[in-house]
Amino acid sequence: MKQKLVKLLPPSFADGLRRARAQWRGPWEFHADRVRYKRYAHPAVRSGRNVPGSFLEAEITKDYHRVEKGLALAAPKRPFGSEVQARLERLLPLAEAQDPNAPYVRFGREALEALKLWNESGVIDDRIAPPRSVARTESLEPSVSPQFFQSRHSVRHFAAEPVDRALLDEAIILAAQSPSVCNREPWRIRIYDGADVQRLLAHQNGNRGFTSDVPALALITVDLGMFTGLGERNQPWIEGGIFSSTFVWALHSLGLSSCMLNLSLETRAADALRAEAGVSAGEVPIMMVAIGWASENHRVARSGRRDLAQLTTSR
Ligand SMILES: Cc1cc2nc3c(=O)[nH]c(=O)nc-3n(C[C@H](O)[C@H](O)[C@H](O)COP(=O)(O)O)c2cc1C
Repeated sequence: MKQKLVKLLPPSFADGLRRARAQWRGPWEFHADRVRYKRYAHPAVRSGRNVPGSFLEAEITKDYHRVEKGLALAAPKRPFGSEVQARLERLLPLAEAQDPNAPYVRFGREALEALKLWNESGVIDDRIAPPRSVARTESLEPSVSPQFFQSRHSVRHFAAEPVDRALLDEAIILAAQSPSVCNREPWRIRIYDGADVQRLLAHQNGNRGFTSDVPALALITVDLGMFTGLGERNQPWIEGGIFSSTFVWALHSLGLSSCMLNLSLETRAADALRAEAGVSAGEVPIMMVAIGWASENHRVARSGRRDLAQLTTSR
């Protein structure tokens, strides 16, 4: 209704209204992001015994990763990691009490043992920094890479055919190979099908014309609890983007088609989506992905690319 009214206004007047809205709304939106980050991410340091599980996971993951990468260097320093060792010795018992079976707790405990072993006896624990027998990863057949990368397109016309959940799970497992800052893997993914797809798509603004065609939908979010300190305030969007991208390539590798769907939402709209999808206040909605088998005679947008000269810059 509001949008219809704006369309009736002279364009310059409507532009003026949009600019005025951005002027007063902008600071509030940045403030809301700041408040959310402050509330759900963690300060760089937490002391005491009453520390939340996500802080333990973020900190222990950062530290076990420091040990793993320290031992994977050409010439690991010896000794190293006295602060890391002290932190792991303090935080691991708290994590073991809260969540004894979590993989990060085991990775942390093993890294601590490996750090001590290295510092005391100069032996590298192969579990922590496994040796690889190949010096270089084998390259693909010359035609395979271009064929793979140039054959993915955003598809907006799907066949009326369901997508097997097992295949989507396979894509999720492949996408989990994405790199993440200190291996923190902050992403979460929810999969929908049937009527839930339309229910969720009502919160996204870029699916007009193919809403009713989408057989499966993924909603990717990032958990702010996996981040610490001010320097990481933009990291959630980076991590979510990396995971979303890998997920789409994983779908492509399995023969499925997809279309990324932006969640460039203001706070109120993001909160409405959170409520609809059961996404917690500490998660940031990053992306929806429409998924399906491409319809037999579908077309794609050309989406031409910049050439190499435009992509590279020496300045
Ligand atoms: C973050 C992001 C958000 C996008 N949002 C939408 C969207 O809302 N609706 C849509 O139809 N396509 C969307 N796309 C798809 C882009 O239009 C598409 O990736 C781009 O034009 C390049 O085309 P290609 O994917 O076919 O190579 C989005 C892509 C990205 C990366």
